[in-house]
Amino acid sequence: MAVATQGGEGWSSRWAFVMAAVGSAVGLGNLVRFPAEAGANGGGAFVIFYIFCVALIGLPVLLSETLIGRHGKSSAIESVKRVAAESNASGWWSVAAGVGMVAAFLILTYYSVLAGWIVYFIGVFASDFAGAIGSGAPFAGALPDRTVEEVRGILPALQADSMTMLVMHAIFMAVTVFVVARGVLDGIEKIAVWLMPAFFVLLLSITVYGAFSGAFGAALEFLFAFDANRLLDPTVQLSALGQALFSLSLGSAMMITYGAYASRETNLAKTSGQIATADTSVAIIAGLAIFPIVFGAMAASDVSAVLSGEQQVQGGLGLLFINLPVAFQTMPAGSLIGLLFFIMVVFAALTSSVALLEASVSWAIRRFNLSRPVATLILGGTAYLIGAWASFSFNSQAEFTPLDFLIFSGQPVFGIIDELTAKIMLPVSALLVALFVGWIADKKLIDSENGLSGGLHLFWRFLVRWLCPLVIAAILLFGLFPGLLGN
Ligand code: PHE
Repeated sequence: MAVATQGGEGWSSRWAFVMAAVGSAVGLGNLVRFPAEAGANGGGAFVIFYIFCVALIGLPVLLSETLIGRHGKSSAIESVKRVAAESNASGWWSVAAGVGMVAAFLILTYYSVLAGWIVYFIGVFASDFAGAIGSGAPFAGALPDRTVEEVRGILPALQADSMTMLVMHAIFMAVTVFVVARGVLDGIEKIAVWLMPAFFVLLLSITVYGAFSGAFGAALEFLFAFDANRLLDPTVQLSALGQALFSLSLGSAMMITYGAYASRETNLAKTSGQIATADTSVAIIAGLAIFPIVFGAMAASDVSAVLSGEQQVQGGLGLLFINLPVAFQTMPAGSLIGLLFFIMVVFAALTSSVALLEASVSWAIRRFNLSRPVATLILGGTAYLIGAWASFSFNSQAEFTPLDFLIFSGQPVFGIIDELTAKIMLPVSALLVALFVGWIADKKLIDSENGLSGGLHLFWRFLVRWLCPLVIAAILLFGLFPGLLGN
């Protein structure tokens, strides 16, 4: 049965908790950010460092966050305060959750803009598919009379058209607000238990399709063969760490918030393991779905140039919004698969955006004594406005790069919010969480929550006390100031 937080809310079962948490973790991070970062950072080296970060940093921090939430049974900030108070430690440790909560809110602002593009592409492929059915060839590629150049132009045209971007962003944010306003049980849990299984079916179908009709071998080589020099590159490492935290929704107060809705009976170690495994599998399977399709549509000479490192595969947003649609244009059943692909992505995005919003809503409800719908509307509305402003980075404000230092050089506002959150705020919050759970919080309290015993318990403790803080701090430092290493 649901075990309530102080506000009276909780998941109806462990399955619901797992679906909601996996729903939060699996999102644009896996489907857009992961392939884009892997593409931009040389494939294999990035992927290997990423897996290292998930297993040895992400997973222990994930357990730390869910257990703080489950013990605290409140908003992320209040939960940390409660654990601190029971451990006779300073309430200031709640800064860990505060930084994370602000990060989640900032991520939501641009996340919804991107998800709006996905909504737009659903429209494009839906009309292609309708056209294909109308012309009696439902399994044709995307619009037969459209040239590849026209497909390449869809994203730039959308980016130049603020009005359409703002409408799509509004549609996505409105759905997010609607779900969160309905509450944990009737909103967040309900969409997670319906959309996540549908997501998995779609992902597996598209992967099988890509394996048979795309360049699967080249994709495998790209994702897993690595160049040891790049493995040691601090900027590749910072990207992989940031991506691991982003993808597992860590350092964003979010897992603390969802942990608060979990019942006493839930074994948090086991659940965290399942969440991390599901999320990482999705990232890699998504890579195995996207790259074969993209490589399959490239000239063989270009693919071998990419594999030998002479040429970069298009990293960044172009991979999903240009290369992939171009590939669908030329593949059998392209319009149908394209439609299913973008529907799958929007399912994943929605279960993540509700989590991003819930992190601050759960706090605002208690802090200002607001009703859930009011808190949701105010926070969602504000995130909409900031996101709208950030979306001008793709047209009128592309040259506006206000922070030309550190990793922000040449970045317009949209990129700044992304880099600031993923590469600075999430690591800082995760670092503080690890220090808090490893060194400050009462050991008995932690031991009674974590569901671990024996050697595994000792190993987890070692990771949280030593490896996580040291590695996160080092990666942050060298990633932000690569000059420190003398190059
Ligand atoms: N993990 C989500 C994704 O991969 C994004 C996210 C980050 C969601 C932080 C909630 C909190 O897309």
